[in-house]
Amino acid sequence: MAKAKREATEKIKLVDVIIELVDARIPESSRNPVISEIIGQKPTILVLNKADLADSQATQAWLNYYKSQGQRAVAIDAQHNKGIRGLQQEIQDVMQPYFQKQQEKGIKERPIRLMILGIPNSGKSTLINRFVGKNQAQTGNKPGVTKAQRWLKIGKSFELLDTPGILWPKFEDPEVGKKLAVTGAIKDSLLHMDDLALYLLEHLKANEAETLKNRYRLSEADLENLSTVDLLLKITQQMGLRDDYDQASERIIHDFRSHRLGSATLDTPYEAL
Ligand code: G4P
Repeated sequence: MAKAKREATEKIKLVDVIIELVDARIPESSRNPVISEIIGQKPTILVLNKADLADSQATQAWLNYYKSQGQRAVAIDAQHNKGIRGLQQEIQDVMQPYFQKQQEKGIKERPIRLMILGIPNSGKSTLINRFVGKNQAQTGNKPGVTKAQRWLKIGKSFELLDTPGILWPKFEDPEVGKKLAVTGAIKDSLLHMDDLALYLLEHLKANEAETLKNRYRLSEADLENLSTVDLLLKITQQMGLRDDYDQASERIIHDFRSHRLGSATLDTPYEAL
């Protein structure tokens, strides 16, 4: 953790703007606990990635919340290349006052230097690839930059550090741990699959009842009358797995991750609480 923090802090010194990447399904739970310490005063754009997997109303509510806190925030779907232009515009906007001042002093505008920072699996590599596209070009090393740091050119306006800053997730709170596990941010082996499946079923019962019913051929009465544990057992039987609820749990989690159980935001937007 100390090493990751040190490395991220070193990289931050090299850039103008930080893109802090989180998972739109868990925008708060996928933020690193010491992120503000690491970022300091550096302009930052909070990017809610995987918006295609999250509930769109909840994503909008989160964006409204962050903006009300004075935090620049945008939602994207890096995998399907959605929202990338909007993000680039946001970066330009952040830098506008700085370039204005430089221009007044007669200093020519230069490409904006960027880095991506986030916990594992938030989509950092995917976003780097989207940014750079197929015709990626690397600029040479810059003075004061260690040889390992390379800048990827994005058009004329941006340069991106080719390696993202990796932060560790936080999961002292068991509920946050479950959210990180079901979205694939931490290893499954750290938690029991049946606990995770039960957690997911609770959420889906309340928010995605129709999808849940259709996917596992459940009845209205099943959803209304069965406890979550009994629901898991029923789904296990529907899957033809007899009483192997561990395997059924794995399948439910896999279904969730592969978007077969609808769009879901597991962190409730603050304004809805
Ligand atoms: P990282 O560098 O931050 O660790 O994350 P990475 O880009 O490797 O992305 C982690 C997983 O999340 C990948 O899936 C990637 O495809 C997926 N992903 C990234 N951005 C989005 C997005 O906006 N929407 C969706 N739906 N998925 C996204 P994977 O299963 O690990 O690999 P793959 O076989 O799908 O590439």
